[in-house]
Amino acid sequence: MNVLIIGSGGREHAIATAVKKSQRADKIYCAPGNAGIAQIAECVPIGAMEFEKLVDFAKEKAIDFTIVGMDDPLVGGVVDVFEEAGLKVFGPRKNAAILEGSKAFSKDLMKKYDIPTAEYATFDRAEDALEYLKTAKIPIVLKADGLALGKGVLICQTREEAFEGVRTLMEDKKFGDAGNTIVIEEFMTGREISVLSYTDGNTIQIMSSAMDHKRAKDGDEGLNTGGMGNISPAPFYTKEVDAFCKEHIYQKTVDAMKAEGRPFVGVIFFGLMLTEEGPKVLEYNARFGDPEAQVVLPRMKNDILDVMEHCVDGTLDQIQVEFEDNAAVCVVLASDGYPVAYEKGFAIEGLDDERFDQKNFYCFHAGTKFDEDGKIVTNGGRVLGITAVAEDLRTARSKAYEACEWVTFDNKYMRHDIGHMIDEV
Ligand code: AMP
Ligand code: GLY
Repeated sequence: MNVLIIGSGGREHAIATAVKKSQRADKIYCAPGNAGIAQIAECVPIGAMEFEKLVDFAKEKAIDFTIVGMDDPLVGGVVDVFEEAGLKVFGPRKNAAILEGSKAFSKDLMKKYDIPTAEYATFDRAEDALEYLKTAKIPIVLKADGLALGKGVLICQTREEAFEGVRTLMEDKKFGDAGNTIVIEEFMTGREISVLSYTDGNTIQIMSSAMDHKRAKDGDEGLNTGGMGNISPAPFYTKEVDAFCKEHIYQKTVDAMKAEGRPFVGVIFFGLMLTEEGPKVLEYNARFGDPEAQVVLPRMKNDILDVMEHCVDGTLDQIQVEFEDNAAVCVVLASDGYPVAYEKGFAIEGLDDERFDQKNFYCFHAGTKFDEDGKIVTNGGRVLGITAVAEDLRTARSKAYEACEWVTFDNKYMRHDIGHMIDEV
């Protein structure tokens, strides 16, 4: 079948790589894609939010199946627009993508259906939030309700910081309308784990667990980023944690969405925190994580198109999603200065290194493009995701770091401690 992938990051490169492996894939397109995706798919210069153009393109090229990788178009309703045009598309409709699109919605859902999460309160007036904070327990967490590129979360260590945070989100509107409503949440401590899943609205099948490294600097210091590296499986995702989440979180979330008249079809990403009181949901996303997709998808045994089609058809109960009994580590090569300010346009050397052709090495492109001379240059904060798959996490980690040396570009920056927790188990 002809496949269209919507998005342009490392996640979409990982999805495209999995689709390329599928026996069922004929022509693969990606909108807008990047210089790495262009090696396995035809990239078309249509933005992920240009829904009508995307639909016209899908009709013109006889696309049989569209996969939406990114959150913005999902929350904006791209799936509804495709469905209305009679096109088959993988991802949640707008009324279900709200699980990621509104933190207030997701918190209310968890409360209503008794899914474990941090205590919280929601505010749409700054003065009420400020009043609440006068007596709230510190540290405390403020979250912009809407999408804010993963940056709308403020962890406040003092009451003053929290007051300031409310002003930043609600009055200065640092994240625009995303801050019209805010959630104020109890601060939790514990290990963070990412669990991705496929669901058809009734059945849910969990993918192998992963662990993100959100902070920009070694030692988990510095600002929060989209993710500087990832490992899969997560060493702390024990059988007990799995059993608890299966009983109290995963299926309950799918059932809750269905009961609300918002059946969720696609990928639910559970951001979990392993607290002393047990696992709790930090956040939901309505899509694959990035870089989570870059460690989880290379380990999946199934044909990705098969799994996704079963989701869309509502027949996920007919198959079993399976993973190799191995491990993967992804190290992000970023532009120095990310996530704040960084330069772009530097030539990337080493991408054609033959060692990347070996099985179990992946060089996923996140922020790259072709310059006027057809050379691949840096074009974003996160530039590449270097993934190695091996029999265990330690081996995968040393191979990933080895491969990080094969590529060079000006201002190349990476964390040197991705997978540090492997040694702490
Ligand atoms: P989110 O976008 O909701 O995942 O939040 C971004 C990051 O902020 C998470 O990965 C956590 O590290 C941190 N965080 C969010 N909520 C809490 C919380 N209630 N307690 C402690 N840390 C949190
Ligand atoms: N890596 C976290 C995310 O994709 O939201």
